[in-house]
Amino acid sequence: MNLTTNLGKLKLTNPVMTASGTFGYGKEYSEFIDLNQLGAIVVKGISLKPMKGNPGPRICETPCGMLNAIGLQNAGLKEFIKQQLPYLRNFNTKIIVNILGTSINEYIELAEDLEAAGVDAIELNVSCPNVKKGGIVFGTDIKIFEELIRDVRRRTRLPLITKLSPNTADIKLFAKAAEDAGSDIISLINTITGMSINIKTRRSRLANITGGLSGPAIRPVAVRMVWECFKTVNVPIIGMGGIISAEDALEFVLAGASAVAVGTANFVNPRATMDILEGIKSFMTENKINSLKELTGTVKC
Ligand SMILES: Cc1cc2nc3c(=O)[nH]c(=O)nc-3n(C[C@H](O)[C@H](O)[C@H](O)COP(=O)(O)O)c2cc1C
Repeated sequence: MNLTTNLGKLKLTNPVMTASGTFGYGKEYSEFIDLNQLGAIVVKGISLKPMKGNPGPRICETPCGMLNAIGLQNAGLKEFIKQQLPYLRNFNTKIIVNILGTSINEYIELAEDLEAAGVDAIELNVSCPNVKKGGIVFGTDIKIFEELIRDVRRRTRLPLITKLSPNTADIKLFAKAAEDAGSDIISLINTITGMSINIKTRRSRLANITGGLSGPAIRPVAVRMVWECFKTVNVPIIGMGGIISAEDALEFVLAGASAVAVGTANFVNPRATMDILEGIKSFMTENKINSLKELTGTVKC
């Protein structure tokens, strides 16, 4: 069985990766799983300067998922390169860094410094709905979105992944714009903006009022969007949104994903990525499938 997955020039030993923000910087999960077994680790979003994030409460449970408004808390680029990257480099897995900025120049600086630091790819987070500046602006204004990707593309040789926001009228337009602007890969979906109200206090359960919905609740939306993007672009797709089992992951592959990322499931079951990988292998053995490529985008409609 061949599990190697080529996302353009980014080569993974298998198609199962982590979703940014749900796996910390890897260390947190190393007592539960062997990090060498992951196709890639996508780390929590990094900004140039440290960010405090939003005030609490920042998380609340909803039926089939969660709302979060962490606000991209992180220790900043320098700290990541000094404290986290050396540890991650000990493992035989690709290190993908999710980056975010409040200006195009910040994204460029992050990309250049991370290339110099030796990471394997960068994922542009243009789709965080929970921060006032940056984030979602880049992901929902198509002109700024294209400009950002084009400018970062010019300044790095690293494989460039653009993470799409589902909070747009037509995700296909953004997928095409990302491809045209030079993104090597697209990943989708980020969280869907949501809100939950405590009827006793008449207050939102999140201090930020709204947050990003993730988990199984968003899976059908995510599968539909991957399928739409697969029909629109030629770049490889990383599918995510509510994957908790191998069956869920395979849905994304049939819809058009070449690799899958596991997010919220990591909070429920820290071994979720490994269970999903094992389940994919069993499915391939049972169905005599030699390579996942044979399945990508083969849904019969
Ligand atoms: C607590 C939390 C933090 C997240 N932080 C980030 C982030 O820093 N950058 C990013 O691009 N996506 C972030 N995401 C979005 C996830 O990477 C993923 O796209 C989304 O949760 C959908 O997948 P899931 O339903 O499997 O969680 C975060 C999600 C959660 C739940």
